[in-house]
Amino acid sequence: MTGQLSGRTAIVTGAASGIGRATAELFAARGATVLAVDRDEQGLAELSVPTLAVDLAAPGAAEEVFDHCAATVGTPDVLANIAGKAGDRSAGDTSDEDFEFFVRTNLTTTFALSRRAVHVFDGGGAIVNTASSFALTGVAGSAPYSAAKGAVASLTRQMAADYGRRGIRVNAVAPGLIETPATRAKIASGIFDDLVTRARPLPRVGTPEDVARVFAFLASDDAAFVTGVTIPVDGGWTSTHFRD
Ligand SMILES: NC(=O)c1ccc[n+]([C@@H]2O[C@H](COP(=O)([O-])OP(=O)(O)OC[C@H]3O[C@@H](n4cnc5c(N)ncnc54)[C@H](O)[C@@H]3O)[C@@H](O)[C@H]2O)c1
Repeated sequence: MTGQLSGRTAIVTGAASGIGRATAELFAARGATVLAVDRDEQGLAELSVPTLAVDLAAPGAAEEVFDHCAATVGTPDVLANIAGKAGDRSAGDTSDEDFEFFVRTNLTTTFALSRRAVHVFDGGGAIVNTASSFALTGVAGSAPYSAAKGAVASLTRQMAADYGRRGIRVNAVAPGLIETPATRAKIASGIFDDLVTRARPLPRVGTPEDVARVFAFLASDDAAFVTGVTIPVDGGWTSTHFRD
C-alpha cells in the first residue's frame, strides 16, 4: 500500500470533522501515531486516537499543541494543518473584523503551528497545509477566505524553500467541493449542481477520503522528492473551464 506512515507521529488539526477527521483516521490506519486537535470536544470524543481540544486561534495555542504532543504521544514529525473555515462575502461587504477572522482562522493558525514545527522537527519531517480551489482561481463572493488560502499556498512555497535543506518538506492540498458538515446543506440545496455536472471533468462531489489520501501521500516517503507544491484535489475543476 502507498502512503505508509509507520513510525511517524502526526499532529492533525481540524480533526473533529470532515477532511481533518478522515485524515486523522487514515493516518492512524496507515501506522502513524496521531494527536487529533480541534476546538470541538464533542467531535473529538468520537475518534479512537489521542485528542487535544484547543482553540487554535488563541494566543499560545501552537506551543500548547506541540508541548502536549511531546508529553503524551511523542515528538511529532508530521503536521497536517486542516482546521479552517470558509465564508461567503466579497471585499466590499467584509469588515476589518471579518477579514481578520478569516486570516486568523485559515492562515495565522497554519503559520503559528508551522513555525513551531520547524523548531521541533530536528530530524526532518513533513508539513501538509490546506489551501483551496479558491487559492488557485477567482470565485465570486469569497474575498477574505480566498485571500487567506492564497497566502497558505504562498507560505507553503516559502517554507519549503527555507527548510528543505533540513529535510523538512512543506506541501499543501487544495480541495475543491468536498462533502463535509461544512458544505452538506449547500450541496443538498442544489446550488452546486451545475458546477459538479458541467465544470468538472470528474462530475461528482469529492469525499473527505479523496482528500485524506493525498494528505497521506504528501506526509509519507512516497513524496520524498516533493516539496513546495499545492496539489488540487478537485475533480479537475481548476484545470478546465467547461466539460461540455
Ligand atoms: N469542504 C470543502 O469543500 C473544502 C474545500 C476547500 C477547502 N476546504 C478546507 O478544508 C479544511 C477542512 O474543511 P471541512 O470541510 O472538513 O470543514 P469542517 O467544518 O467539517 O471541519 C473543520 C474543523 O476545523 C475546526 N476548527 C476551525 N477553526 C478552529 C480553531 N480556531 N481551532 C480549532 N479547531 C478549529 C472545526 O471545529 C472543525 O472541526 C478547511 O481548512 C477548509 O477551508 C474545504
